[in-house]
Amino acid sequence: YPNPIEKTSERYKETLPKLPKAKGWMTEHLVRYQGVWLTPNAALKGLMWIQDHFKPRPTDILLATFPKTGTTWLKALIFATVNRTRYGFSDHPLLTTGPHDCFPFLDAYVYENDRSFDDLEKLPSPRLLSTHAPLTLLQTSMADEQSCRFVYICRDPKDVLVSKWLFMNKLRPKQLPPISLEEAFELFCQGISHYGPYWDHVLGYWKASLENPEKILFLKYEDLQKEPFAVVKRLGEFTGHPFSVEEESRGVVQEIVKLCSFENLSNLEVNKTSVQKFSRDIVVDNRHFFRKGQVGDGKNYLTAEMTQRLNAITSEKLHDSGLVF
Ligand code: A3P
Repeated sequence: YPNPIEKTSERYKETLPKLPKAKGWMTEHLVRYQGVWLTPNAALKGLMWIQDHFKPRPTDILLATFPKTGTTWLKALIFATVNRTRYGFSDHPLLTTGPHDCFPFLDAYVYENDRSFDDLEKLPSPRLLSTHAPLTLLQTSMADEQSCRFVYICRDPKDVLVSKWLFMNKLRPKQLPPISLEEAFELFCQGISHYGPYWDHVLGYWKASLENPEKILFLKYEDLQKEPFAVVKRLGEFTGHPFSVEEESRGVVQEIVKLCSFENLSNLEVNKTSVQKFSRDIVVDNRHFFRKGQVGDGKNYLTAEMTQRLNAITSEKLHDSGLVF
């Protein structure tokens, strides 16, 4: 194939009709590819493209997340941490550019975009790229110890479900009725959720992080809320940009936390009025990425039975993993 994308297009065309389908959260149904529920277009194509072509570099920082666990927040924090000597806090790019534009999705980099494979190759190191893909779906070369490093964030499933349900309803075309909480709950519990099942996604990165903590930094949204300074310092160390004593005494960590806070980012003009163009077809208002930004809000929506059932699934799935929410 003269163009590497063509090879993947062929594989995609052959694979798609064979995949199991389920009702989606939007107009599109979801398909199950290698055990993971994906949108048949952007997500599946993006993943196949990564599997076939992506060449990781040891300096790459991959932010891996399940949607609605804190992607936007971590994009801002990692970007600000890694680039802190390049930009001042008073005219920082994050004040005028949405976090998603500062830190592109690898999954949507080439497919559905006007960018090319060469553009990705030309990005200077260290590249900051994000992905929603579960670790099991990434090519083995990315799992190699030296190939690239991952920052992963997870969040209490109750808050993930509610955040996702409200987000999806904002994105659903106006002519469709909103998806009910009951329906969203059933889909989520069955694992039928973009890049789901959620628990498998979390466990994949969790187990790998235990085996190789140098390669995968595993974080929790709840810890980031509780101890943002400690987490940002860990991010600095992990990404190879540790904070010096002098920087700490100048309050650089605090500046980063403040810059990336929900309060600050959600009130910026760019995040209130601009849109994020992930691909030709996927365009989302930046403001939808900022809703409440709190721990435990899921409980305000879920019934006692829903909370109980979700907690039961979580304890069963995580029972011997050492991970708790
Ligand atoms: P809520 O819907 O619970 O408010 P993602 O970025 O992965 O799509 O996740 C979105 C969730 O993260 C939303 O949760 C959103 O409000 C929250 N969020 C976005 N930016 C944040 C920030 N700077 N600090 C804390 N939470 C943030």
